[in-house]
Amino acid sequence: MVEPFVEGIERLEREAASELAAAASVAALEAWRVRFLGKNGILTEQLKRIGTLGTDERPRAGQLVNQVKKRLEDAQALRRAALALAEEEARAAAEAVDVTLPGRGAGVAALHPLSVALRRIEDIFTGLGFLLADGPEVEDEFHNFEALNIPAHHPARAMHDTFYLETGGLLRTHTSTVQIRFMEQHRPPFQIIAPGRVYRSDAPDPTHSPVFHQVEGLVVGEEVHMGHLKATLTAFLEAFFGRRLAVRLRPSYFPFTEPSAEVDIGCLLCQGVGCRVCKGTGYVEVLGCGLVHPAVLTRVDIDPERYSGFAFGMGVERLLMLKEGVADVRLFYENDVRFLSSIR
Ligand code: DAH
Repeated sequence: MVEPFVEGIERLEREAASELAAAASVAALEAWRVRFLGKNGILTEQLKRIGTLGTDERPRAGQLVNQVKKRLEDAQALRRAALALAEEEARAAAEAVDVTLPGRGAGVAALHPLSVALRRIEDIFTGLGFLLADGPEVEDEFHNFEALNIPAHHPARAMHDTFYLETGGLLRTHTSTVQIRFMEQHRPPFQIIAPGRVYRSDAPDPTHSPVFHQVEGLVVGEEVHMGHLKATLTAFLEAFFGRRLAVRLRPSYFPFTEPSAEVDIGCLLCQGVGCRVCKGTGYVEVLGCGLVHPAVLTRVDIDPERYSGFAFGMGVERLLMLKEGVADVRLFYENDVRFLSSIR
């Protein structure tokens, strides 16, 4: 009887079809193929059994097995294609690059904040008609002290904490040296600024650095007076800080100027009301200045009866700290790019 054989084949086909549907990977599919369609697979076994059937039943049975085999092979090919596609898609998704993500970028180099500040200061003063001058950082006692009316044993020398070199020279403690260098070479009238590095043997702390920057200013001509000084510095400070400022000159002392003054500006934080930054005074000190001492002019053969002048010296780090609210001067020298790029 062929009927049990046919039923067996039909059951086998249903079983194979449901297992095929459950095969979740190309590997599982291959295992399925070996099991049902392989050389020693279940269907091949059934083909072999056909020989045990009656002669007139064999063609129908053979035809049935071959049809089932063909259907299973077709279904398997479809399933294989679908699984291969799904696996490829999964792999592509895992490897996918999100081209819409913002790039990490290469980091564009920028000028150091001190360089930017120096350029701004130079721009402002050249806009006012000043020329740039410079001088050496390794100096001698004459240009750093004597010619500036600071003789040996003068208490101002002690205040400068000078680095002396074994060769006999010294590292300039201020850019006032350039006043002398320039006046040795030029006759009035002139107006110059001299930006540059200066050195003091101070232990680093939030307000001291053994190297820092100053910008010196010197104007000499006929009838130059305090009014010119105050107008020039007010114009500079308002341009640098980008706002109107209360500017105050407070009497002070420097050996190379007479009279001498400290320049204060209305506190940027509290606008003069009084706060922690200005220690309740409403003002903060920004630079030193004065009228050039006649003894300094005489030293460089400029007649103090005919010529007068004003001079000023400012600390670039200090100005930038006030402008940007930086609490520690050492930040300018530690090369932490997070700090450096936080300042325009
Ligand atoms: N040289 C002074 C210092 O380093 C700053 C200074 C004060 C410069 C008054 C000047 C000036 O030209 O007139 O502390």
